[in-house]
Amino acid sequence: MTTKSQLTDHESARELRNRALSYEIATEGVVLLENNGVLPLSPCPIALYGAGAQYTIKGGSGSGEVNARHNVSVLEGLIDAGFDILTNEWLKRYDEQWKSGRKSFLSSMRRKLLIPTARRIDALLGIEYIYPTGGMLVAEQLASADTCIYVVARQSGEGKDREDIPGNFRLTDDEIANIRLCAANYPRFVLLINSGAPIDLTPLDDIPGIGAIVYMGQLGMEGGHAVAHILTGKVNPSGKLAVTWPKSYEDVPFGDEFGKDPELALYKEGIYVGYRYFDSFDVSPRYPFGYGLTYTSFVHSAQQIRLSDDKLICSVEVTNNGPRAGKNIVQAYARCPGEDCEYQRLVAFAKTKVLQPKETEIISLCFDIASLAQYDESDAQTIVREGDYIVLLGDDSRSTVPVAVVRVPNTLILEHHKHLCRPRTNIAELHHTNRFEVPRDLPHISINSITRAEHSRVVAPLTGETSQFDVRLLAGTGMNADKNGFSVPGAVGHTTAAFVNEGVHNIEFCDGPAGLRLEKKSVLYPNGEIKPLEFSLSIYEYLPRWMRYFLIGKENKGQVLYQYVTAFPVEAMVAQTWNVELAQKMGEAISDEMSEYGVSFWLGPAMNIVRNPLCGRNYEYYSEDPLLTGRMASVTAKGVESRSGNYCTLKHFCANNQEAYRRTVSSDVDERVLREIYWRGFEIAIREAHPSSIMIAYNKLNGTYCAMNHELCSDLLRDEWGFDGVIMTDWYSTGPELADEAECIRAGVDLIMPGGEETIQALTKAHKEGKLSDADINRATNQVLRAIRNARR
Ligand code: BGC
Repeated sequence: MTTKSQLTDHESARELRNRALSYEIATEGVVLLENNGVLPLSPCPIALYGAGAQYTIKGGSGSGEVNARHNVSVLEGLIDAGFDILTNEWLKRYDEQWKSGRKSFLSSMRRKLLIPTARRIDALLGIEYIYPTGGMLVAEQLASADTCIYVVARQSGEGKDREDIPGNFRLTDDEIANIRLCAANYPRFVLLINSGAPIDLTPLDDIPGIGAIVYMGQLGMEGGHAVAHILTGKVNPSGKLAVTWPKSYEDVPFGDEFGKDPELALYKEGIYVGYRYFDSFDVSPRYPFGYGLTYTSFVHSAQQIRLSDDKLICSVEVTNNGPRAGKNIVQAYARCPGEDCEYQRLVAFAKTKVLQPKETEIISLCFDIASLAQYDESDAQTIVREGDYIVLLGDDSRSTVPVAVVRVPNTLILEHHKHLCRPRTNIAELHHTNRFEVPRDLPHISINSITRAEHSRVVAPLTGETSQFDVRLLAGTGMNADKNGFSVPGAVGHTTAAFVNEGVHNIEFCDGPAGLRLEKKSVLYPNGEIKPLEFSLSIYEYLPRWMRYFLIGKENKGQVLYQYVTAFPVEAMVAQTWNVELAQKMGEAISDEMSEYGVSFWLGPAMNIVRNPLCGRNYEYYSEDPLLTGRMASVTAKGVESRSGNYCTLKHFCANNQEAYRRTVSSDVDERVLREIYWRGFEIAIREAHPSSIMIAYNKLNGTYCAMNHELCSDLLRDEWGFDGVIMTDWYSTGPELADEAECIRAGVDLIMPGGEETIQALTKAHKEGKLSDADINRATNQVLRAIRNARR
């Protein structure tokens, strides 16, 4: 077996470069939620408390975990920024409490996993060690200082949704009491929130003295430095929320039904997801979509709106009117007329460069007329209805101001579709009708016609890669590498090495999306076997000791290999930058790491819509808005694929919006809602970036497993969107009681992952029994072979 791992552990130039990028993204991803003049702070003596102070969470758990050489905690970041920490005693006690709590947690997990099976591991994947709060603080023992920073931390991850309970979505009694005490005792009190998704801050409403709240989220390996520099003002906060923060969970539409039924998730809210719900039904959020403060102030003035080639272009003058240099994000929304549409929807956004005080920049917000469209279910077409549309600019979804009117005198038909993936029954959804006065004094623009998109099959069927077909190419080799091939320690999948001697090498799949998940240290045995010296996935720590004994390598038995990668901020924080250039650079940086270690498929970006704040994997997803999601995923994909022969994998297609029962549940969603919300981001990324692969989700869609759904995998992806890459399943989503392997291939899937002997046997049997045709095998083989041949090695 061969690998490309390094034999030294010196921090390389690439590591330094990528770490600097991770820091930059982290600084732009932080959102300043409240500031009563306390921030920025000059470095000073501080009291530092809270679970996330030294055990800062850099990213969520599960397949999205990325391990870096070192993750900078809030404590380290503050020390490096020149703060003097006065609470070392408390931090020491907390450290002991954390360690002993973790020890008992691990032994209880090990008991549960005495006989580990894939299913059992999967069920426990999302169970997290809940950090102790450090107990109740006592007034007399508080460190004496003017400034206090308190870090609330929450972990979540794959396999389990969050819950609306204290210690999870809610604050615990200890946390509330401690925050109250600190806010009362320290003239400058700052609360940091270290979680991958919103939490309920209601108890803070009646706590006076909270000087500032900073949502630092989960910022990757440089999080501590990034947040310290936001606190000192070395970097002016410019992040904006990519999801709505509800006041409490009760405000989430149909929240009480979320994740309850093992068989069915009924998308009753329809298109009213996130701000589309809060704004349309006038439910006040705690913090709206797009919200975030800064240490300066910006003024926007819309200059002009014009039409060019089916695009509307709105120029906006942005001036920094405040005392500090900073970047600003401008958001454009559209309000569509008539029945059954949201109050407004995001149609464009842009971020300025760093503007010095009094400096101005003119930015262009450009959006397709198609951004105003609706899907007309009765005739399966995308249309822009006749009527007056209002274009609005805002700092967030609750502060939008009309700037122009777009008049559509006659309904325009943009595209005819086939009816695809229709629901099994009529879904009784929410309805909202937009009624508004059209402002007379605004610039008006008329759209009388539009170029029509007619989709025929753009993808020519692949032929000629091979005259022979072999089902071994349609499945990976399981989680373990084939000893005859090439292997990357930490890879979660490998194509077959059965044809290496015929010039068809095997290629490797590694997880994302917050970087590249590899083993940091492993050992290569003389017989070619590779074993990790540390585990890249926290769940391995739950395994019984005897099992770990067999899995973990012995350093003195072979050659030690190193792979150091970058832990970037989680996608939810990348989205909060609203900075597409940075997201693209992140894709490029990940791709450099792929080339360095020999990874062909990166399993990211993840781009499901944040439908409910409790989904355990929200930290891995960008936003509740499909445009922001689609744009971020598209530039990340472009970044990854800018290095030729490296592939990204959009995931998880589609409507995989909860972790509970993810392998059995059917997401029942209306056709229009799929088109406008859950498919839209994927469509944007596929049409803009032409990515090389996509991962099909575990769940069913309207009753049929996504991977067995011909309408989804072939009619939509291939025929309508022209997707020309590899279509793969999510890991272990086929087999008895799950999706049928042969039916997946017939539906249009090319590769069953991670595969293994049982998968190959099932495919071979289906072929023999005539359930899988030569043509289907040939099609999928060609697709996989082309990816292998074009992959970088
Ligand atoms: C996750 C995917 C991941 C795959 C491989 C699955 O459980 O849903 O996101 O890429 O495992 O680790």
